[in-house]
Amino acid sequence: MAVAPIAELIARDLANFVEGKNKIPLHRRVYNSVRTAILSQQLRAKDRLPSTRDLAHDLGLSRNTVMAAFQQLIAEGYVDASIGSGTYVAQALACNNKRSGQLRLTKKITSPKEKISPETLLSYRGKLLTAQAAEAFFEVQPLQPARTDFSIFPFKVWQRLQNKYWRAAESALLDYSSAGGYAPLTLAIADYLRVSRSVNVLPEQVMITAGTQQSIDLCARLLADSGDTVWIENPCYWAARKVFDANGLKLKAIRVDAEGLSPEAGSMTNPPKLVYVTPSHQYPTGVVMSLARRRKLLEIAAQTDSWVLEDDYDAEFRYAGRPLASLQGLDTHERTIYMGTFSKVMYPGLRLAYMVVPVALIEPFRCGLYDLQRPGQLMTQAALADFISAGYFANHLRKQRLLYGTRRKLLSNALTSVLGPLCVLSPNETGIHLVLYLPDTVDDVAIAQYCAQESLSVRALSSYYIAPPIRKGLVIGYAYMSTDSVALGGRRLAHLLLKILQNQLETVS
Ligand SMILES: Cc1ncc(COP(=O)(O)O)c(C=O)c1O
Repeated sequence: MAVAPIAELIARDLANFVEGKNKIPLHRRVYNSVRTAILSQQLRAKDRLPSTRDLAHDLGLSRNTVMAAFQQLIAEGYVDASIGSGTYVAQALACNNKRSGQLRLTKKITSPKEKISPETLLSYRGKLLTAQAAEAFFEVQPLQPARTDFSIFPFKVWQRLQNKYWRAAESALLDYSSAGGYAPLTLAIADYLRVSRSVNVLPEQVMITAGTQQSIDLCARLLADSGDTVWIENPCYWAARKVFDANGLKLKAIRVDAEGLSPEAGSMTNPPKLVYVTPSHQYPTGVVMSLARRRKLLEIAAQTDSWVLEDDYDAEFRYAGRPLASLQGLDTHERTIYMGTFSKVMYPGLRLAYMVVPVALIEPFRCGLYDLQRPGQLMTQAALADFISAGYFANHLRKQRLLYGTRRKLLSNALTSVLGPLCVLSPNETGIHLVLYLPDTVDDVAIAQYCAQESLSVRALSSYYIAPPIRKGLVIGYAYMSTDSVALGGRRLAHLLLKILQNQLETVS
């Protein structure tokens, strides 16, 4: 079969690609090539892309890899696909382009600006922030962490609740949100947190944001200055780290052990301004912070006037034992800002999250939220308030807990049954991913890449560390996969690992 021009273009791009410190998955690189071709008008509106099967064949890649790239392009509106008629560059993208037909590969339209390397256009901070591109969130491969099952979301109910507000279209709900959030929603959240997470909260303390990223950003801007120190867990949530970097804060990596964040003796000589923690389910190791450590951390915060940012991102998913109380609920000195999100319990594209701030910070945070982030989404906030108060939220949560708990068990059984004593899993029946620890001698990044080629999208544990000592392992998701495929995926992964680990052991002996 003749190689199609777009395949040539991508193949050239892939061959020229220089791997940086952070590995970029293959599907992301294919996506980047096509996207660049569209933006530089090498591909134009209505140009037809080859089928995923043909392109995968021409590039020597798995079809899943090409499909993941195409789905990302579709999701971002670069291309349109209609069943049966193929995939085309979106009409809206090339406004002054009347040409259609063959792909033009050689005559790229260049302006003087295009010759400038993007590096030279960015500030020091811009370079720092874009040096490590985040992995695409849109994935189709099995065992991908951080995803929940959207297929069980009660869309009809959600649509009906939203329609109610859109029919009335009250102008107040179309405006900016200036009071920290829609009052019935802050009330519903406060009631929920008091009962289910033991948070000390009045509705006025609740601030609605467009995600945890925004919550952390607001805390970083309002509570710390550039150059101040922030303690961050090692390993840590990469997106929190980015926000602190963006605000010019100095990161101090604090070890996480079996009891959670573990400040070393002597670290009090240079106290932090902020401490970012995930105490209910440390991200990504899953460790639950012990009561002794919680008390210690709150004592440090009270003594040094530092602020504790408690990210309670997936504590709703606890499958055994009693729910864990929040750190904020133990804090008698009001030094904790509690953060939660609807990204996992509803869906991430909703972009609604919340913070509970100490009473003394209510007014400054209302002001900061309004002036820096210009929040809105009051229609959606109103529908969400109804969704919670009418009991749909609790039902959906119950359903998710049941399903994800079963899937977690199936995954851990599948891994244990194949790997036997080599299977060392993270503790605690919480969350939407688990960690499979690997011997310190293996290259978990290479293993994760190998798994990706086999269409299993696990992540290397070592990539979450910002300082030594680094533990090796794989972060494995299970929540969004169907009950059948999670067991199958687990067994496939375990067999791959068994082969790799046995080879390693043979090489060593
Ligand atoms: C530790 C942690 N916090 C928060 C979030 C959610 O962030 P957001 O509310 O911005 O979607 C995630 C998502 O994966 C996470 O892993």
